[in-house]
Amino acid sequence: MRFTNKTVFITGAAGGIGRQTGLSFAKEGANVAVSDLDFDMASRVAKEIKSAGGNAEPFKLDVTNQNETIENMKNAYEHFGGLDIAFCNAGIREIVSPLELSIEEWRKVIDINVTGVFITAQTFAKHCIEKKIKGNIVITSSTLSVTSAPNRCAYTASKHATAGITKQLAVDLAKYDIRVNAIGPGVIRTPLTERYFQDEEASQKVRNLHAMKRWGEPNEISSAVLYLASDEASFCTGTNLIVDGGWTAGKDW
Ligand SMILES: NC(=O)c1ccc[n+]([C@@H]2O[C@H](COP(=O)([O-])OP(=O)(O)OC[C@H]3O[C@@H](n4cnc5c(N)ncnc54)[C@H](O)[C@@H]3O)[C@@H](O)[C@H]2O)c1
Repeated sequence: MRFTNKTVFITGAAGGIGRQTGLSFAKEGANVAVSDLDFDMASRVAKEIKSAGGNAEPFKLDVTNQNETIENMKNAYEHFGGLDIAFCNAGIREIVSPLELSIEEWRKVIDINVTGVFITAQTFAKHCIEKKIKGNIVITSSTLSVTSAPNRCAYTASKHATAGITKQLAVDLAKYDIRVNAIGPGVIRTPLTERYFQDEEASQKVRNLHAMKRWGEPNEISSAVLYLASDEASFCTGTNLIVDGGWTAGKDW
């Protein structure tokens, strides 16, 4: 068990990747702070983790709200008696032509995916420095942190930003013994991507994006998150680990 006596704070923990990562951390001994905008769903995930023999507590959190984030992390620390890892994972995306994208929608995506990640990471880093904890931050980026896809201008901009935040924080926080890495998934089947699978033609398109001719499952991302957060990755900081079945390796032609 790699995470006995450790506590992980996960944002967007009620969704596909966040939920699975919570389950995986708990299976390896970690206490899991299951935070999400959707408290009912977060409570369900916390219950699921407990039913599987783990330790979890749900938290209602909007990652764009700094005060709420500070309060939630303090509560998680007090509840579990520690806080060692932050998984900054909450995210949304638009699918609309950049010519039609409203400034409101642009701002919403940037606010959650960039500012929300920064608030979570900053709050957690301050906590680690104050408590003298060798902390660990993992940020969910995307293949769209290194490439693009049609009609996702705000999302692509936001995910490129997460790769930048990861590098910058890695450099600035290394002197405090805090490692910061990102994980960049290809298409993973979750509520976020469910509409990609509405029919066989759409599903085939998704398969063909990846060299491996299939999409990924949430556990194929959680295993990489756990690696980055573990001592096995002790010399790893500032990395944006792309886990994408070969999507960004090259095009099929
Ligand atoms: N699924 C994929 O194919 C894929 C690929 C690349 C990157 N990602 C990234 O992975 C992360 C998780 O995606 P997912 O597929 O699990 O999506 P999901 O929609 O299943 O889960 C996202 C969760 O974030 C929560 N959330 C939304 N806004 C929030 C806010 N303001 N504050 C707190 N929580 C909020 C939602 O309630 C939801 O539970 C996202 O950052 C996404 O961009 C996903």
